[in-house]
Amino acid sequence: MQTATIQTAAPLLEVSDFSLHRGAAAVLDRVGLTLRPGETLGLIGESGAGKSTLAMAVIGLLREPEVGLSGSLRFHGEELTGLAEARYRKLRGNRIGLIFQDATAALNPCYTVGAQIAEPLRRHLGLSKWDARERAVELMTSVGIPEPRLRLNAYPHELSGGMQQRVMIAIALACNPELLLADEPTSALDVTIQAQIMELILERVRALNSSAIFVLHDLALGAQVCDRIAVMYAGQIVEEGPSAEVLARPLHPYTRGLKSCVVELGSEDLQPIPGQVPPLNAMPEGCRFAPRCPKAQDVCRRERPAPETRDGRQVACWFID
Ligand SMILES: Nc1ncnc2c1ncn2[C@@H]1O[C@H](COP(=O)(O)OP(=O)(O)O)[C@@H](O)[C@H]1O
Ligand SMILES: [Mg+2]
Repeated sequence: MQTATIQTAAPLLEVSDFSLHRGAAAVLDRVGLTLRPGETLGLIGESGAGKSTLAMAVIGLLREPEVGLSGSLRFHGEELTGLAEARYRKLRGNRIGLIFQDATAALNPCYTVGAQIAEPLRRHLGLSKWDARERAVELMTSVGIPEPRLRLNAYPHELSGGMQQRVMIAIALACNPELLLADEPTSALDVTIQAQIMELILERVRALNSSAIFVLHDLALGAQVCDRIAVMYAGQIVEEGPSAEVLARPLHPYTRGLKSCVVELGSEDLQPIPGQVPPLNAMPEGCRFAPRCPKAQDVCRRERPAPETRDGRQVACWFID
């Protein structure tokens, strides 16, 4: 979709002032994000930043009273926090698809892959057993599974990790979701096929003109594959904006740290910035990044910076240059 169309279209997903508490700890702290139809967003941050938590909250798998929710999550203007489970079931796997990190854990070992791909087609689209099976074959072909008719009857453990991931992609996209949430969709796979699977997901997302949120920990990869980037640190979005600009000229010190890690060390596994994410039960009062930030001043330790709009970006920092 053209950028101009995206900018003016009504939001598909609107997250505003959204917080998620586990006990007293704010795992997500006043998160704000807007995703428009056809747009792809990379949600980037170190392990423990709250990326998966946000994805799970959007898809309604983290709900009250298990966790505390405040603020709002809207899908096509419909409020998702507090939505009845029966209504959520109509969205999940239908209008919102989910690809988890680990297909082995997500697929049911007791059912054939054919049955698992056919299930959402029968439940959400009301296809007959025969039609769902035929559609499953088409979907398996579209995600590059060879000999789909033969593999319909395979159980997950009979397939390689890459093939299982393809099955999960087929399930997530079976009902042509408007929104796809892909949580580190390739990190459990061999590096040799990671790029191939990523390309496959992107190709399918584009073909369906869906929107997608890709949870990734690699800023460069995120910028390469997504229209926009949101950088998350310790449950807060610190910077959000168009990918090329965020990567070329990061405004938040944390984004800058992530970028220098990629550029200088060429690996996402290394600690990008000295220090560690503070534990959930001991989050700093002010900016959560302040204890690790080279630019931190008293105000940073005292008060949380509100996100500010700068050059079409949202940045939460007291000292944006
Ligand atoms: N089931 C859980 N119970 C308690 N704490 C959890 C649970 N899942 C995640 N957390 C905590 O929530 C925070 C965010 O985790 P997560 O969303 O998995 O981060 P990410 O996906 O960015 O690595 C972490 O501090 C993590 O320890
Ligand atoms: Mg995660």
